[in-house]
Amino acid sequence: MAEREASRTAVLVCQARAVADGRMAVGRFSDPIALQLLEPDEQRLVDEVRAGARPKSFGPRMEYEMLSTTAEVLAARTVAIDDAVRERGAPQLVILGAGLDARAWRMPELAEVTVFEVDHPASQAVKHVRMGERTALTAVRFVPVDFGKDVLGAALAAAGHDETRPTTWIWEGVVPYLTSGEVAATIAEIARRSAPGSRLIITYPTPNLVYHYGRKAMDVLLSVSGRTSPMAREPQRSSWTPERLAAVLRERGFTATSDRNLLTVATEAGVDGNRAAFLGSGRIVVADRS
Ligand SMILES: C[S@@+](CC[C@H](N)C(=O)[O-])C[C@H]1O[C@@H](n2cnc3c(N)ncnc32)[C@H](O)[C@@H]1O
Repeated sequence: MAEREASRTAVLVCQARAVADGRMAVGRFSDPIALQLLEPDEQRLVDEVRAGARPKSFGPRMEYEMLSTTAEVLAARTVAIDDAVRERGAPQLVILGAGLDARAWRMPELAEVTVFEVDHPASQAVKHVRMGERTALTAVRFVPVDFGKDVLGAALAAAGHDETRPTTWIWEGVVPYLTSGEVAATIAEIARRSAPGSRLIITYPTPNLVYHYGRKAMDVLLSVSGRTSPMAREPQRSSWTPERLAAVLRERGFTATSDRNLLTVATEAGVDGNRAAFLGSGRIVVADRS
């Protein structure tokens, strides 16, 4: 992500949730706030995909297909994460790299939970503007942090996070944008503030050359058609095998209790997906501290 620029991938995944709302995994997934957080031109693409209005020309067609496949992945991973959050029921929830996540505004189960939203300062500033006066369903504390520069633990402590009480941590769609060193250092910080009973939920990319080069090709094709890929300025910096990530977690006192690929998660969640949409979508690990 460019130094002072808000995340564009955060907008893409918000658009994806808006596409999925009421259409995918109905009864298990719902994010009515997502659409409200989008600018009019961002909403327009959502409307096109929801209407199934496939554009004929090349550039718009690529944007359409990218959003439509991302929506399937987002519906699946959101169901898995929401289930894991509810199941643990910790009194604190830290959302790392929160982007336009609306859990604190849409999940009544969080009413008694203190939610900490951690994000890059540029992305968080945009979230404040887009959220406007909407009232969250619980107490939300905003914690601006650049994982590559700032000390997560100190920032959370200053915001009132209590390391003696259990915390559920969500790290959704952020690991790809960090180096291996930043990921490992952040897990160490998380571990230092995780009382027994804490849970860490991470979505992460696995090494996948087809996806890697496919994504680069997509960036080039969009740029020759006069468009900028939302992912162009947020390059993938790390990928993980389940074994390697589990080892880093174990070293920090977390046991991976489940680790599934997102296609499996989608099938379980009832997302009728196009299997190709899940190419390179990665995995989700739930790791607990007893
Ligand atoms: C794809 S978005 C995911 C947002 C959100 N978790 C979701 O799933 O809707 C990536 C998020 O990672 C955050 N991010 C990327 N690099 C970061 C960094 N170095 N420090 C803090 N946040 C970062 C961005 O600000 C953005 O909110």
